[in-house]
Amino acid sequence: MMENHGEGENMLKTMYWENGALMILDQTALPLREHYIKAESCARVAEAIKKMEVRGAPAIGLAAAYGVALGALAFAGAPSGWDEHMKTAARALGETRPTAINLFWALRRMENKLQSLYAEYDVTEPSPETQAAFAAALLAEAERMAAEDERDNRLLGAAGAALVPENAAILTHCNAGALATGAYGTALGVVRAAWEAGKNPRVFADETRPCLQGARLTTWELQRDGIPVTLITDGMAGYLMQQGKIDIVLVGADRVAANGDIANKIGTYALAVLAQAHDIPFYAAAPTSTIDLRAGGGGDIPVEERDGDEVRRLGGVQIAPPEVSVYNPSFDITPAKYITGLVTEKGVLSPPNAASLLKLIS
Ligand code: MRU
Repeated sequence: MMENHGEGENMLKTMYWENGALMILDQTALPLREHYIKAESCARVAEAIKKMEVRGAPAIGLAAAYGVALGALAFAGAPSGWDEHMKTAARALGETRPTAINLFWALRRMENKLQSLYAEYDVTEPSPETQAAFAAALLAEAERMAAEDERDNRLLGAAGAALVPENAAILTHCNAGALATGAYGTALGVVRAAWEAGKNPRVFADETRPCLQGARLTTWELQRDGIPVTLITDGMAGYLMQQGKIDIVLVGADRVAANGDIANKIGTYALAVLAQAHDIPFYAAAPTSTIDLRAGGGGDIPVEERDGDEVRRLGGVQIAPPEVSVYNPSFDITPAKYITGLVTEKGVLSPPNAASLLKLIS
C-alpha cells in the first residue's frame, strides 16, 4: 500500500528578494551554518556565483538575473551611460562560471527584456525619469524567471517520478536539489515528487569531491524533508551497483548539447558507464533552459577548471603537500549513449538525441 507523503513544510529558499537586495543562502557554510548573504550589488552577486555561495545551474542563472536588476537599480538617477553600465554588469556576471548554460540563458533573457523596454518606451536609453521603471521591470522579470523555474521543476519532478519504481534505491551525485534551483530541484525534484506520491524512495548520495555538494547539501536538504538518505563516498558507487543496491541513477545537468551529451558535476560520467555495465537506468533531469542547441556535442561545452586548493584542502584543512600539482575540472561530459532518458518539464526524452531534442525545443 503506498502511503502519501505531504510536501515538505517550510520550503527551502535558495534566494529571495528583500528590501532592495538579493538574499542568498550561503551554500559554502551549509550544513554547519544557515545564513543569508545580503547581496546589494551586481558585483556581490557575481562574487557569490564565483565562490559557489550560490551554485547549481538554474540557481546560478536566477542569481545572475537578479544581479542584472541590481545593476539597473544602482544606476538609477545618473544622466547617461546606462547602456554601457548594463553591458558591464552583464559581462561581470557572464565571466563567473563557464559551464552552466543557464547563466547565459538568463543573461540573454534579461537582455531581451531590456530590448523590449527600449522598444516600449521608444528610446535607446531610459531617461532619468524612467530609469526606476526600467529597473523595476527587470526585477519583475527576474522574479518571473524564479517562479517559472519552480513551476518547471514541479512539472519535471512529476514526469520523472513516473519512472521511479516503488521503494527504489536512487543514487544521486552532487546537489541537483532546491538549493541548486529556484525551488524544489531537478534530480531531487524527481525524488521529492516520488516521495510525495508515496513511492517511498531512498537516496544514496555521493559525497561529490572536491566541493562535497552531496555530503554537505544533498543530505541536508533531504533530511530536512524527512526523505531517507545515506551518504557514500564517490568511490563506493560501483560496489553498491555490483551488489544490486541501486535501482536507478538520477543526476542533474549543467548543459545538454544538441546530440544529447550532458555536462554535469565531475564524476557523473563514471557513474553513467557503471550504470550501463550493471543494467541500471541512468536519468538526467534538467529544465529546457539547460539545453544548448548551439553546442553540437559534449566537446563543444567549456568545462570549468577550479583552483587546486579545492583538492589539496578539505574543509579548510590541508590534506596534500601544499605545492603538489592538481588537476581540478569541475564537470565532465557524459555521452548520450549512456543516458537512458532526459527528464524535462516538457516530458521525458528516451533517449535524448538530436531529433528528440530539436522536437522538444521547437
Ligand atoms: O559546481 P556546481 O555545484 O554548481 O555544480 C552543480 C551540478 O553539477 C549540478 O548537478 C547541476 O548544476 C544540476 S543542478 C539542478
